[in-house]
Amino acid sequence: MKIKLVPSIMCADFTDLENDIKEMEKAKVDYLHFDIMDGHFVPNFTMGVDIIRSIRKITDIPFDTHLMIYNSERFIEQFARAGSDIISVHPESSLHIQKSLSMIKKLGVKPAIALNPETPLSILDYIIDDVEMILVMTVNPGFAGQRVIPSTIKKIKDLRNKLKGYGLEIDVEVDGNVSFKNAPKMVKAGANVLVLGTSSIFREDISIQKGIEEMRRKIIKI
Ligand code: DX5
Ligand code: ZN
Repeated sequence: MKIKLVPSIMCADFTDLENDIKEMEKAKVDYLHFDIMDGHFVPNFTMGVDIIRSIRKITDIPFDTHLMIYNSERFIEQFARAGSDIISVHPESSLHIQKSLSMIKKLGVKPAIALNPETPLSILDYIIDDVEMILVMTVNPGFAGQRVIPSTIKKIKDLRNKLKGYGLEIDVEVDGNVSFKNAPKMVKAGANVLVLGTSSIFREDISIQKGIEEMRRKIIKI
C-alpha cells in the first residue's frame, strides 16, 4: 500500500503557518492532519474550525481532521464545510457513533474511526462498513512529544489481520511518536498513513523538508 506522510499542524509554527505549509507542499506530503481538542475529551485545547477554513484558502493538500471532542456529531458539518477531506471520530466521543460516521459520508467526506490505545478492535465489528480509514493512537491523545505505548505496535498488526479477515485493504493511520526509529516498526506492522509531529519533522535541528526526506529514506528501506 502507498505510504502517506501527513504533517500534524498542531506542531507547526503558528507565527508562520503559511511558510511551513509551503515547505510541506514542496515536500509533497499527502495530507495535513488537524488535531481538534475540546479540553474535555482530552486535557488540552488546540485549534477550531476557523483555522481549517483559513488554511483551506492557501493550499490544495487534502485535510485530515482528527476530532478529539465530545458530541462530535454537533460539529461534523462545520468541519466538513470548512474544507476537511477526511474526518476521524473516536467511538467514546458520542453515544451514536455509527450516526456520526454516516453523517460524515453524507457530507461527501471520508469517514474514519480513531482508536485510543485501550479501545478494543472489536469496536469495528458492526461499524466497519461505515469506515474508510482507521486511526490508531500510538500515544494517549492530547499532547505532542509523548513516548509510544509499546502494545500499540501489536495492535496495528492485529488490526491489519482483522482487516484481512473482513477482506478489506483500507488505510491504517498512526498518530503519536511516529519517529524515524518507530515509523519502520509501525509500517512493518501494517500502518501506511503516518502522522508526523515533533518526533520527526517539527524539530529545532532539521527543516520540515529534510525531516520528510529522512522519513522517506527510513520507509523505503522496509
Ligand atoms: C496527539 C497528537 C500527537 C502529535 C504527533 O494527540 O495527535 O500525536 O501531533 O506528534 P509527536 O511526534 O509529537 O508525537
Ligand atoms: Zn491526531
